[in-house]
Amino acid sequence: MGKNEWFKEMSFYQIWPRSFADGNGDGIGDLYGVYDKLEYIKALGVDGIWFSPLYPSPNADYGYDISDYKNIHPDFGTLEQFDKVLQKAHQLGLKIIMDLVINHTSDEHFWFQESRKSRDNPYSNYYIWRDQPNNWESLFEGKAWEYEPMRDQYYLHLFSKKQPDLNMDDPKVREEVRSVMQFWLDRGVDGFREDVINFISKRDGLPDGLPFVPLANGIMHYKDGPHIHEYMAEFRKTAQQYHAVQIGEGPMTTVHSALRYLTGKDKSLDMMISFDHMLADCFMTEYLQKPFQLKSYKSALSRWQYRLAGKAWNALYLENHDHPRIISRYGSEIFWKESGKMLAVSYLFLQGTPFIYQGQEIGMTNIRLSSIEQYEDIASRNNYDRLLTYEPAEKRLKRVQASSRDSARTPMQWSSAPYAGFSQVKPWFFVNPNYPYINVETEEQDPDSILHFYRRCLHLRRHSKALLFGTYHEFFPKHPHLYMYERVYQDIGYLVLCSFTEKNLSVRLPEKYAGRKLQLVLCNYSGRDGTSSVLLPYEARVYRARLKTST
Ligand code: NOJ
Repeated sequence: MGKNEWFKEMSFYQIWPRSFADGNGDGIGDLYGVYDKLEYIKALGVDGIWFSPLYPSPNADYGYDISDYKNIHPDFGTLEQFDKVLQKAHQLGLKIIMDLVINHTSDEHFWFQESRKSRDNPYSNYYIWRDQPNNWESLFEGKAWEYEPMRDQYYLHLFSKKQPDLNMDDPKVREEVRSVMQFWLDRGVDGFREDVINFISKRDGLPDGLPFVPLANGIMHYKDGPHIHEYMAEFRKTAQQYHAVQIGEGPMTTVHSALRYLTGKDKSLDMMISFDHMLADCFMTEYLQKPFQLKSYKSALSRWQYRLAGKAWNALYLENHDHPRIISRYGSEIFWKESGKMLAVSYLFLQGTPFIYQGQEIGMTNIRLSSIEQYEDIASRNNYDRLLTYEPAEKRLKRVQASSRDSARTPMQWSSAPYAGFSQVKPWFFVNPNYPYINVETEEQDPDSILHFYRRCLHLRRHSKALLFGTYHEFFPKHPHLYMYERVYQDIGYLVLCSFTEKNLSVRLPEKYAGRKLQLVLCNYSGRDGTSSVLLPYEARVYRARLKTST
């Protein structure tokens, strides 16, 4: 493994700082809270942390609208506190990855404040200005263009109005990006998760998009744009000087276009966060729901496993701050514990680097707020007001309850103490009312908890060459309720079985494994020996087998 491939044996924990742990008693999560919880993170068995943005931000999009790239949001602490967290994390053997949001800034960023003033100031070209807007829709809020009277021009914002898109075609902007990267790398961080990175180069002339498509109607003109690989190569150069890892976020990316970022002469990323497997219960966005289809989940995972095999490396995840909780989606809140563990098994043993989102490891579930006004997330409100208008209010709210990113943003449930032990005072956002029984403290004490199960999974993965580097093969891909795959390295095979139904499920083993001595190394039900051909509701098993007996 090369010097720059240290991430392959690792797994990461994602922190969305506002809701992780409040250390200074103001109801908002912060770096003081993180500092105190580093041992907890280490004990989970992960090797690093990805921080969602920690920078100053007016919070139009909770941190993804940055007003100063080289500082820490006062809600979260100071640069000194960041350094303390970084130092302690490194002492514990945890890497730190920052979020690099460079498609857009906040409209309150100094660059934009200057740029908007006139057509001929040093920052005038930092953003994308036009006399006439095209027909693009923004992903968060109406048209993608906003009028600025001082310039008598419109600026582009693919997300909210308060997130103007940077003009990456301006070499000065790219220089700024490199300087931001360098700032954090010099401080000692180990890499970046690069926000909507496949959107940063727009097609010259900004042609109109499709007329009647909601939200992403201009996507063909800004996804994997004409200069993307050129620009990415510049950023890669900076990252490589520090052996830093680069993980791109690629909304609507395909495996085909992702491979260009991950391999060959244009390689500019170590991993790509894809969305295909998050579409097993919806079309395009979680708001356009359909019943969960296991086949769609499996085929997305397998496609990425097969197509990247031997060439590139996967980023594995089921949750992050942009998606509702996975048990509430692909599992069952009734079989909460069983399905929470089974879902962990379904992805942690694939080839790639796993990411675990705060609260996922204790099986946090969706919150259901009683009115749209209670939702904080701009995307939830936008979808309620614009995308779902064809539905009556009651139904719209139901959809938001099932889809909102806010479900992943409720305060972390540390204990059954008031406010879930997240804070001493009323937190900035609603705590999920199930915190008295879904919380870290309770699960620490229960050896059969989802938390302990995650630890076991990560331990197993870390100590097995087959689970880290073995080949992947899926069995019975058409089966509607069973996900079965193997990982094989030399003569060791791991066979993973996951039942996605609340009924008992009869299974047969693939010929390759039938008749072999199978050692059950992990199961989400206690007291099972792995010999039964019937899987219990949401049962997951991992067997280990020696495959070659010949000489
Ligand atoms: C992806 C981020 O993960 C999401 O939270 C954000 O709203 C958009 N990019 C825009 O930055």
